[in-house]
Amino acid sequence: MNKLSLKIGILFFCIIFGLITLMLFLLHEAVVENRVQEELDALQSRGNSHRTVLEKHFNKEIIDHVILMESESNTDVVITDEAKYILGSSSKLNSFEKYIKKDIGTIPYSGEIVEENWKREPVISTLSPVKINGQTQGYVYMFQNTESVHNLIQSLNKHFLLVGFISIFVTIIIIIFLSRGITKPLIQMKKATSQINKGNFAVTITRKSDDELGELAKSIETLATDLNYLKRERNEFLASISHELRTPLTYIKGYADILLKRNPPQEEREKYLTIIVTEINRLNLLIKDLFELAKIDKNSFVINKEKIDLSIFLKEIERKLTPAINEKNMNFNVHFQNNLNLFADPIRLEQILLNLLDNAIKYSKTGSLVALDVWKEKKSIHFLIKDNGKGIPEKDIPYIFNRFYRVEKSRKRSLGGTGLGLSIVQELVHAHGAEITLNSKEQMGSEFEIIFKENEK
Ligand SMILES: Nc1ncnc2c1ncn2[C@@H]1O[C@H](COP(=O)(O)OP(=O)(O)O)[C@@H](O)[C@H]1O
Ligand SMILES: [Mg+2]
Repeated sequence: MNKLSLKIGILFFCIIFGLITLMLFLLHEAVVENRVQEELDALQSRGNSHRTVLEKHFNKEIIDHVILMESESNTDVVITDEAKYILGSSSKLNSFEKYIKKDIGTIPYSGEIVEENWKREPVISTLSPVKINGQTQGYVYMFQNTESVHNLIQSLNKHFLLVGFISIFVTIIIIIFLSRGITKPLIQMKKATSQINKGNFAVTITRKSDDELGELAKSIETLATDLNYLKRERNEFLASISHELRTPLTYIKGYADILLKRNPPQEEREKYLTIIVTEINRLNLLIKDLFELAKIDKNSFVINKEKIDLSIFLKEIERKLTPAINEKNMNFNVHFQNNLNLFADPIRLEQILLNLLDNAIKYSKTGSLVALDVWKEKKSIHFLIKDNGKGIPEKDIPYIFNRFYRVEKSRKRSLGGTGLGLSIVQELVHAHGAEITLNSKEQMGSEFEIIFKENEK
C-alpha cells in the first residue's frame, strides 16, 4: 500500500470507526434501557395484580396464596402492612429490608418503582399500595434479580460486538478498494510526470473516468505532447541558427584567408572585401532579428498599447520608405480613412508594417506598385499590404511564417534576407491579439492582411 492511500485509508477508517462506535453505543443504550423498562413494567403490573387480589381479602390465607404463587416464579414478593411490617415473603432472605425501609414519599395507586438501578443493585423492585375503602392497608413489594437483566445484556453485548466487528471488517475492505481506486490514477500520473521529467514525452495514462482525475490525466498527456513539440522546435531552431551563422562566417573566413595568404591584386581585393562586408552586414541583421525574436519569446515581453492616430502614423511610414521606393523606381500608394485610431504598441506596429512593406519592395520588380490600405470595418481595423511582385508559390505558403523559411533557398546576394522577418511579424501580430492572413499567387503578387479586432479598450 502506498503512502497516499494509507493516509486516506487511515483517515476514512478513523471517521467511520468513530461513527460506527457512536451509533452502536447509542443503540446499545437504547435497547438496554428499553429492556429494563419492560422488565420493570412487567414487575409492576404483576405487583399490581397481586394487590388487586389482596384488596378483596387482605388476610393471612390470601397472603400465603400470593406468596406461594411467587415462590414458583423467578420474581419475589414481600407483603407488608401500612407500617411496612412484613406480613409475608416469598424469599427467605431478608436482604430486601433495605428497599422496604426506603422512604419514597406518597405512592400513587398505579404503583411506584423502588429500585431501578440494575447496574449496581442486585435486584430491581416495584411497590404497589393495597387500598381498601381509600385507606392504605399495606404494600406489595415485587423484586426481580438483576442477574437476568445482566445475562440479557451480556448476550446483547455479544451481538453488538459481532455486528461491530463485521462492519469494521467490511469498512476496511471498502476503504482499501476505495483508496486504491482514488490513488492509483494519481500514482500513475506521478510516474508519468517523472517520465516527462526524464525527457520521455511519449506517456499515456489509462483513464477510466471522466471526472477531475480523468481530466488531470488528459492535461498531463497534453502537456507532454506540447513539451515534446517545444523541445523539437527548439532543437530545430538551434540547428537553423547555427547553420545560418555558419554560412556567412565560412564566406568571411574563406575570403579573409585568400586576402591574407595570396595577397591578390587591388581589383580582386576590393571584390573580396565587399563580399566580406556584405556577409558581416548579413550577420548583423541576423543577430538583430534573433535578438528581436528572443525578446518576443521571453514571457516578460510586453505590448504597450496606446491610442495611435493612424493618419499621422501612416504618413510617417510613407516618409520612411520613400528612399527605398525611389531607389527601385516604384509607386507607393497609401490609402486610409480619416480619423482612424488604433490601440496598439506604435513601435511594434511600425515594425510589423516596415517588415511587410520591406518584403513587398524587396520581392517586386523595379517600377511595380506597392499599396497600403487601412480601413475600419465594424469594430475592427484592417491593414492590407499589397504588391504585384513575384508572389509566393502555393506550396510555400503554409510555411512562410516559419523561422528561417525562405522561398529562395539559395542565398542570392541581392535577396539576402534572414527568413526571420515574417515570423517576427506573426509573433507581434499575435501579441496584439490580432490576426494575419496571406493571399499570394506566383508572378502575380502578394497580399498580407492584418485585422485588429475590437478596437476599443
Ligand atoms: N511580398 C512578398 N512577395 C514574395 N515573396 C515574399 C514576400 N514576402 C515574403 N516573401 C517570401 O517569404 C520569405 C520569408 O520572408 P521573411 O520572413 O521576411 O524573410 P526575408 O525577407 O528575410 O527573406 C522570403 O524569403 C520570401 O521568399
Ligand atoms: Mg523580410
